[in-house]
Amino acid sequence: MNQKEQELVTAARAAREQAYAPYSNYRVGAALRTASGAIFTGCNIENAAYGATVCAEQVAVFKAVSAGERDFVALAVAASGEDLASPCGTCRQVLAEFVPDLILYLTGSSGAVETATLKELLPRAFGPAHLTEDST
Ligand code: THU
Repeated sequence: MNQKEQELVTAARAAREQAYAPYSNYRVGAALRTASGAIFTGCNIENAAYGATVCAEQVAVFKAVSAGERDFVALAVAASGEDLASPCGTCRQVLAEFVPDLILYLTGSSGAVETATLKELLPRAFGPAHLTEDST
């Protein structure tokens, strides 16, 4: 990994420290780099009404978009278990809305990091183009 990639993974691991996960104890951190060079982080935030839980990746995306940044360059996700993080289906969809071929760095509690693309994780994604094509 180059220095920028390592920096993103480190930011995701740091964000994981803020996870609020008293129900699952599965802690996740995410760090999203945008074209401006900024890094937006997120952690999972659970809720006693379980369905109100928000994933780390979505928190990072919502922070970036609400700050006016939609041009994502890469996302690092750090899960607390030994297994590498694997963004859930909803997170994949939320990410694909903005950058369908986003680069992902997936890590867990060990030092291992796997690189993947969002296209690999969510092939044939439904996206904005499906709503603008003339299908009549
Ligand atoms: N979680 C994430 O934050 N990101 C994912 O991609 C997978 C799941 C969180 C949601 C919940 O707080 C906990 O992990 C267990 O599902």
